[in-house]
Amino acid sequence: MKGLVLSGGAGTRLRPLTHTSAKQLVPVANKPVLFYGLEALAACGIREVGIVVGDTEPEIRAAVGSGEQFGLEVTYIRQDAPRGLAHAVLVSREFLGEDDFVMYLGDNFIVGGISDIVEDFTATSPHASILLTRVPNPHEFGVAVLDDAGQVTALEEKPAHPKSDLALVGVYLFGPRIHDAVTAIKPSRRGELEITDAIQWLLDNGSQVRSHVISGYWKDTGNVTDMLEVNRSVLEGMERRIDGDVDAASELVGRVVIEPGAIVKGSRIVGPALIGAGTTVVDSYVGPFTSIEAECHLEDTEIEFSIVLSRSSIIGVRRVEASLIGRDVEVRPAPRTPRAHRLVLGDHSRVQISG
Ligand code: DAU
Repeated sequence: MKGLVLSGGAGTRLRPLTHTSAKQLVPVANKPVLFYGLEALAACGIREVGIVVGDTEPEIRAAVGSGEQFGLEVTYIRQDAPRGLAHAVLVSREFLGEDDFVMYLGDNFIVGGISDIVEDFTATSPHASILLTRVPNPHEFGVAVLDDAGQVTALEEKPAHPKSDLALVGVYLFGPRIHDAVTAIKPSRRGELEITDAIQWLLDNGSQVRSHVISGYWKDTGNVTDMLEVNRSVLEGMERRIDGDVDAASELVGRVVIEPGAIVKGSRIVGPALIGAGTTVVDSYVGPFTSIEAECHLEDTEIEFSIVLSRSSIIGVRRVEASLIGRDVEVRPAPRTPRAHRLVLGDHSRVQISG
């Protein structure tokens, strides 16, 4: 079994984060979302992984490299333009050969991994196996209709009037018959070769398509509330690990991770919380469900249920909650006079000021 990870797509600026134009590199608990997918593939015993890349190939290559850090052997497959998920399979034909494969969308996050589903596929050898989850907004996804026996009967890509609330999640398992399907289908209304249409082709041509309904799913939409929520769920599964320096005046409560080179002085950190490598936390409170990336500086500050990305500093601010702070950001109080807010905010920033 091989892995095919889709990390192509156009390199448009992402909101609200702009440090990367690859949505697969948006961090969850201080790690790009793509890495969780690669780890999930490695955890099923997969070694050979093809990564489909587009305009953002240099960023993806810089982050993943040879794949060795994941125990994988990565082959990069260039797609000239984002012509659809089934097109990504087409351009990967040579890499995939006649092997079964897991196709994993690089911007999707599956809580709990995929080992069970891969085992089921290996045991039952269908032509395809899909993952579904119930969503409140099915018109934004591929949608599946199941019969009373739980058998997939029809699939539709982003229908205006969805026939169910079961959305296709971005992990698919395929046998080699999918290659006939992606060759046979035509581009959709939005001009893409849809994997949904390819799976419908399999159904129409008598192939066996299995499905599994899962919970615990997230995809990057640039929505801060969703990002905080997925960050929370990952932090909840963490084990306590203290690799940095914590002085005697500090108190760490529960599942706290202090990465190597981080320094904590006179502070209280209540887990689950993650303090990145080289970050300093001085005379501060860091509350549950908070991820602070590398090389940040927190001083005389209280923060909770938030994400702070690399090299940002928050000094003398009480209290930050439910916030996403990008890279190289500075947050500090204004001088006493004049009593005014002084803001230097990038495009599409959003600020809520209390008091
Ligand atoms: O996230 C689940 C949904 O993913 C499914 O419910 C839909 O059925 C499926 O079509 C897909 O919909 P999206 O429109 O959300 O896919 P998106 O264009 O965001 O692409 C998903 C990933 O695949 C993303 O990491 C970029 C990559 N990609 C996308 C296209 C279109 C490629 O590598 N090449 C491509 O040509």
